Amino acid sequence: MPDRGFTPTQLAARAAYLLRGNDLGTMTSAAPKLYPHMWSWDAAFVSIGLAPLSVERAVVELDTLLSAQWSNGMIPHIVFAGGVDGYFPGPSRWEVGRLAAHAPREVQTSGITQPPVHAIAVQRILDHARRHGRSTRAVADEFLDRRWPDLMRWHRWLARARDIGGNGRIAIFHGWESGMDNSPRWDTAYANVAVDEVPAFRREDLAHVADPGERPSDVEYARYLWLLEEMKAARYEDDVLAETMSFAVEDIFVSAVFALSCEVLAEIGEEESRPHADVRELHEWADRFRRGVVDSTDARTGAAKDFDLRSGKWVATDTLAMFAPLLSGGLDRRTERALLRTFEGPKFCGHPDLRYAVPPSTSPVSLDFRSREYWRGPVWPVMTWLFSWVFARRGWVERANTLRAEGLRQASGGSFAEYYEPFTGEPLGSMQQSWTAAAVLDWLG
Ligand code: SER
Repeated sequence: MPDRGFTPTQLAARAAYLLRGNDLGTMTSAAPKLYPHMWSWDAAFVSIGLAPLSVERAVVELDTLLSAQWSNGMIPHIVFAGGVDGYFPGPSRWEVGRLAAHAPREVQTSGITQPPVHAIAVQRILDHARRHGRSTRAVADEFLDRRWPDLMRWHRWLARARDIGGNGRIAIFHGWESGMDNSPRWDTAYANVAVDEVPAFRREDLAHVADPGERPSDVEYARYLWLLEEMKAARYEDDVLAETMSFAVEDIFVSAVFALSCEVLAEIGEEESRPHADVRELHEWADRFRRGVVDSTDARTGAAKDFDLRSGKWVATDTLAMFAPLLSGGLDRRTERALLRTFEGPKFCGHPDLRYAVPPSTSPVSLDFRSREYWRGPVWPVMTWLFSWVFARRGWVERANTLRAEGLRQASGGSFAEYYEPFTGEPLGSMQQSWTAAAVLDWLG
């Protein structure tokens, strides 16, 4: 039960109201002020939250995102809402319309990608559709017919264009592609980025948070913007990026999400009679990337590491990324149990000072931990959702239920914050974050 907060019914109503408020028609802004456009992985989670309210509206969300897919298969990390200002870097900074041969012409997007959680959303939408009558089921079926080739192209692009080391791991060329922008995971790789002349810019994000300390620093932003200039010089061409970007890291969390999503999409393909060749390819990718994740792990603890392709070094951090194999599977039982013990123990969910037993983005016992600073410590409810969903899928029902119950307790104040201070439970960042409301709706649905 919530501690001193709204009842589940009230909370669900508030979450639905929030999504309605952030609805721009055919896309839901990630958050009204800080993120007034559509973000790729946010959109997937948002559609998971929309599905129990309206399968039809959930489908529209994914349709909007997929309509912005690049012709090489990439789903861009931002689809810009027409006529909306207040976010930097906007379309005029990315300039993909002028520079990128693969970018869509009808809609403006960024030039990078984000974690591939979309197959999970498709599965949740189909789950909900099956509980409805024929007309709703037809909407979901028709969506799958129409978008299956696009989903395949998305996964194929990741497997081909982004496994640049051929290791069964996805490379990212910008910390934003991980979704975990300023995580300590990227500190060493960013330290090697030599920032040259960054065209003048003004940060918009700081106007929308109570305290700049909740956001990445100016030094970090200069690097973020410099990498955009490198990408523009490469005209966003996959091959050129792989050669020239000064930031290139195999992201172990994204790799695990990809393995998981390939497995999920393969299941959908089997159930929904999609081409055998596609299903086979999805299984092959799931196997290859699962192995890629396991190959990065410590033999005793099972903790996964990122790999910096530029320095040629493994990067071990006490962050959510170490738990990547819990998402993708493949560890032997003993090592998996060791990793689960770390997840539930005093380094993460079981830290004695945590307000709620949910995983912080960075371990509170790590030297890199900052309790209020974006991905350096705060709890992100959508990550709690992802782990609880995967745990349920893997048959760890009690673990899944605990995360869900604690996640709901955290949300019971009704703030639907972007992230939370782990010790006090103070809501931080954006206050009307769509994916937080979506996670709550799925939990309560
Ligand atoms: N998360 C980034 C931001 O804060 C962009 O993807 O703006």
